[in-house]
Amino acid sequence: MRAVMFHRYGPPEVLTQVELPKPEPRGDQVQIRVHATTVTSAECGMRRGEPRWGRVIIGPFRPRSGIRVLGLEFAGEVTAIGPQVRRYRTGDRVFGFTGFAVGANAEFKCLAEKASFTTIPPGVGYPEAAATVDGFTTAWHFLRQTVRVRPGQRVLVIGASGSIGTYAVQVAKRAGATVHGVCSGRNVKLVESLGADRVIDYTVEDFATSGERYDVVFDTVSRSSFAQCRKVLAPRGSYLPTTGLVNNVLQLRTALTGGPRVRTGMSVRKHAALAELRGLLERGDLKIVVDRTYPLDEIVAAHRYVDSGHKVGNVVITVPSGAIPL
Ligand SMILES: NC(=O)c1ccc[n+]([C@@H]2O[C@H](COP(=O)([O-])OP(=O)(O)OC[C@H]3O[C@@H](n4cnc5c(N)ncnc54)[C@H](OP(=O)(O)O)[C@@H]3O)[C@@H](O)[C@H]2O)c1
Repeated sequence: MRAVMFHRYGPPEVLTQVELPKPEPRGDQVQIRVHATTVTSAECGMRRGEPRWGRVIIGPFRPRSGIRVLGLEFAGEVTAIGPQVRRYRTGDRVFGFTGFAVGANAEFKCLAEKASFTTIPPGVGYPEAAATVDGFTTAWHFLRQTVRVRPGQRVLVIGASGSIGTYAVQVAKRAGATVHGVCSGRNVKLVESLGADRVIDYTVEDFATSGERYDVVFDTVSRSSFAQCRKVLAPRGSYLPTTGLVNNVLQLRTALTGGPRVRTGMSVRKHAALAELRGLLERGDLKIVVDRTYPLDEIVAAHRYVDSGHKVGNVVITVPSGAIPL
């Protein structure tokens, strides 16, 4: 099967097209023919080997063998099942998250049936389905599981035009909150169309001096600090950063000292969020923002674009049938 691999950390050009043996499902595994995957900011970081401390997990000097095919999100079709599989059948359309196993930048991927995936509702295409998984489930994890946003609360989403941000605005709004978003001027109209009550253009206004007070500040893109956001947080408010080692320390400290708290972590167990996502897709109640779509053989260009830090929503990779020149 065709796949995209990297053997050393570096720029997008470290990615190469390769031919690998097709994985066969064993035991409780499902074999998925991947039709669409994505390039996320998180896996561009893995490709660069950043943050440096993350190399303790992904490989100190070069990426360890288990993560050399990237690809966190996928949508595709079940093409074979192991003898112990009970929930899925050949032909099922599925979408989900590969997690620490990565590997969706390939024609086929095998996952245990209990992994984070589910069936795609009728009428939803593979590219759209793939573009929902990590952004939505991460937004839902932070806003509905970590802090349980309630009606009437005030939520600020920093990075409201990104993958997590575009879903965070919708999740917070659906929970009954007043939502303000931070992005640059070119994305203001988009973020308003997702339901934001106010949009702050960071190129002309500093949200930290806006005089507003929020119950939750969700920094999806790590462009702020707790010190900066404290000024706009309610006395018992929560600051939710998606990354940053220092935030883990602050999380412990603010849990002991009272006042606004830092709540960080990783969205890993995604089943509850995927069930919610599937329902929204089935009812047509979620806006999916796809910025650009590339075929698998142009994935280097897709990584270059995501590395710019200015993608809007999601960047999708289609995995067409037929030979791609190696
Ligand atoms: N903790 C977890 O479980 C978890 C899960 C997934 C991802 N993550 C992490 O979350 C981070 C972001 O992910 P993402 O994919 O949502 O990001 P993304 O889609 O790459 O974000 C891009 C957006 O950020 C906006 N942006 C850039 N600078 C900004 C600023 N100063 N203020 C406000 N917005 C700004 C850009 O808008 P403009 O072009 O308008 O500037 C762009 O639309 C990554 O670091 C990833 O590793 C964490």
